[in-house]
Amino acid sequence: MILVTGGAGFIGANFVLDWLAQSDEPVLNLDKLTYAGNLENLASLEGDARHVFVQGDIGDAPLLERLLAQHQPRALINFAAESHVDRSIHGPEDFIQTNVVGTMRLLQSVRAYWQALTGAQRAEFRFLHVSTDEVYGSLSPTDPAFTENNKLEPNSPYSASKAASDHLVRAWLHTYGLPVLTTNCSNNYGPLHFPEKLIPLIIVNALAGKSLPVYGDGLQVRDWLYVKDHCSAIRRVLAAGRVGEIYNVGGWNEKPNIEIVKTICALLDELRPKGDGSSYQTQITYVQDRPGHDRRYAIDASKIERELGWKPAETFATGIRKTVQWYLDNQDWVTHVQSGAYRDWVQTNYAGR
Ligand code: NAD
Ligand code: TYD
Repeated sequence: MILVTGGAGFIGANFVLDWLAQSDEPVLNLDKLTYAGNLENLASLEGDARHVFVQGDIGDAPLLERLLAQHQPRALINFAAESHVDRSIHGPEDFIQTNVVGTMRLLQSVRAYWQALTGAQRAEFRFLHVSTDEVYGSLSPTDPAFTENNKLEPNSPYSASKAASDHLVRAWLHTYGLPVLTTNCSNNYGPLHFPEKLIPLIIVNALAGKSLPVYGDGLQVRDWLYVKDHCSAIRRVLAAGRVGEIYNVGGWNEKPNIEIVKTICALLDELRPKGDGSSYQTQITYVQDRPGHDRRYAIDASKIERELGWKPAETFATGIRKTVQWYLDNQDWVTHVQSGAYRDWVQTNYAGR
């Protein structure tokens, strides 16, 4: 079986669902169920013996020791993290605890397990660390896209904590020989995305008749990748990636934020027109910028294409249409995740802007 950490979050849950749709190899899913973890994401697996869920922390060494000994996974994919830049600005502590200390403890637990393996089991074991393009820092409009050789120059508490985890993973390879792989991916979007990140927040706010907050001038650029494409890239790297290598994963799809917001408005105008005939664009509100806001991220994903034959299947046009439709079809999911804790966060992040 494989061990997935953070498999109740946005990308982890999509990964587990896709994995079990394509293979009968069981998944042990370890997730702390923070505000971002949601077992409803995995409801379709209820009663499915191929999915074993354990609530717990990647930094809990005795728990990891027990789980690894009992389930003997052939690979681990580490999605578990605190993942939201704005939250890291308001409270960096959890980011250091999970992304840095937690990753270090996880590496230690897995190293002890791996070192006790023998033969093919030991040779074939992999630790795949899921990271982000944000570790490379910010680009000017004319800079070339990030390659795997870029220096790590993180600018937010979130990206600094992820860069630290990437360094730890590298060190566990060089020092202990742990067979690691690292992927650095651009911004994901798609089903099950918690509505504190730009795309789901805009969809959810638009439908609720609320303002659509655009930070600063809205001309910050991100590369967007449909989450199912990220999942297929991870499966490919796990199957064929060279130990110790980093693979950048991206959608070849750079867009300024304001264009993303207007595209969502246009789709909603078509799929769920407002009663008064006005466009959702009238709800767009420019608000105070994020401190230290990175201007541009762009991923050069040619290494993974050249070496492993992976490319994204979705264009932004097809992926964003599917995403908007998913939110229209899953209003109950949206209602359930908008708990008291979610409302507190909206107050913390937007009230003073
Ligand atoms: P998410 O915040 O939606 O989910 C994170 C999951 O990890 C949650 O289920 C949470 O409960 C769990 N978790 C948090 N702390 C934990 C701990 N200490 N122990 C065990 N579980 C814990 O995040 P996501 O968007 O699904 O991102 C997953 C991974 O991919 C992260 O490592 C993130 O840095 C990386 N990534 C995300 C994006 C993106 O656009 N969302 C892009 C590139 C890379
Ligand atoms: P986000 O989804 O938080 O991802 P990241 O910061 O990891 O790239 O934000 C994507 C972009 O959208 C980023 O440039 C910040 C911007 N943004 C807004 O303009 N308004 C918002 O309310 C949010 C949440 C983000």
